[in-house]
Amino acid sequence: MQYSKDEIDRVLVSNERIQARLDELAERINQDYAGRELLLVCILKGAVAVFADMLRRITIPCQIDFMAISSYGSSTKSSGVVRIMKDLDHGIEGKDVLIVEDIVDSGMSMRYLLDTLKTRKPASVRLLTLLDKPDRRRVELHADYIGFTIPDEFVIGYGLDYAEKYRNLPDVCVLSPKVYM
Ligand code: PRP
Repeated sequence: MQYSKDEIDRVLVSNERIQARLDELAERINQDYAGRELLLVCILKGAVAVFADMLRRITIPCQIDFMAISSYGSSTKSSGVVRIMKDLDHGIEGKDVLIVEDIVDSGMSMRYLLDTLKTRKPASVRLLTLLDKPDRRRVELHADYIGFTIPDEFVIGYGLDYAEKYRNLPDVCVLSPKVYM
């Protein structure tokens, strides 16, 4: 896909690479959870693309639910303050939960979310993240399934936004500094 240089610096992870990596991760997940049932939890809004693509690759019995968390503001830096905007529709006691996230940056959103969900007594909770940015980590957090480890650059597309735009791009791209400077 052709992008405007004024908005997109470059493609970081193409949709083709994403799809190939999701094939690999799904194969592992289907093996790891063989004989069990899975509750897939989509963290709105950024994870919608990876969630939908992953869901269609899961071959074991599964249910889905949605949760929205948000840090305040729309800046390119995480504020560290986490709010639950929408909670799960159902309880998770005794369930094997797989959280699907688009990106782990500081890790503060996911640390808060994992700690919150663990108090609800699930059988297990694991985390899949499409993107991992370990250079920006501010708390101890390791995802169980990682799509791509990426450098500290502001990324958009394939669900990820800048000020709610660009979620519809098929590829994960680096935002041009011209947009926010
Ligand atoms: C993004 C992303 C993660 C979080 C990661 O969500 O989807 O949930 O930030 O940042 P952290 O590791 O520093 O906490 P955002 O709050 O931008 O909401 P969105 O998914 O609706 O875009």
